[in-house]
Amino acid sequence: VKEKTLAMIKPDGVDGNYVDVIKKTILDSGFSITQEVELQLNEDTVKSFYAEHASKSFFSNLVQYMTRVTHPESFLTSGPVLIMVLEKENAIADWRALIGPTDANRAKETHPRSVRALCGLDSQRNCVHGSDSPQSAAKEIMFFFEKSSSGFVSKHD
Ligand code: CMP
Repeated sequence: VKEKTLAMIKPDGVDGNYVDVIKKTILDSGFSITQEVELQLNEDTVKSFYAEHASKSFFSNLVQYMTRVTHPESFLTSGPVLIMVLEKENAIADWRALIGPTDANRAKETHPRSVRALCGLDSQRNCVHGSDSPQSAAKEIMFFFEKSSSGFVSKHD
């Protein structure tokens, strides 16, 4: 059965010019990109999207990271993300497998061909996001997109 999942290229990935290579990897792996929007996330949007992590010690750092570019050399205080809906058979598990472990350092060791090994930096700055279950895929797609008369549109522009 065809599935849809939510993929996001985070501020470090967009700023690091990884959009084209990640999209090529996505398409070469048999996914189609059915929706796509580039957005500058604000703190409220990130807090709501990552609500399940609200109690974690890294939550405030996560909110900072998702709203701006956090390369050591960067002085930018903002940075957009690219949000995509990917579709194919088994899309949810396959996109998670393609991106590799959350910690990019671990990805470099155990999954050297994964997206996070390619463009991630550490356990926070891991370059991409993927929904982890059918429930979160449905929730996360609806978080960013809604149906309109002209097809799907972003809710957060
Ligand atoms: P993601 O898969 O999008 O889901 C939650 C995000 O929180 C994760 O990617 C990382 O960006 C961040 N994160 C998860 N674990 C840690 C951690 N141990 N330290 C810092 N950031 C983390």
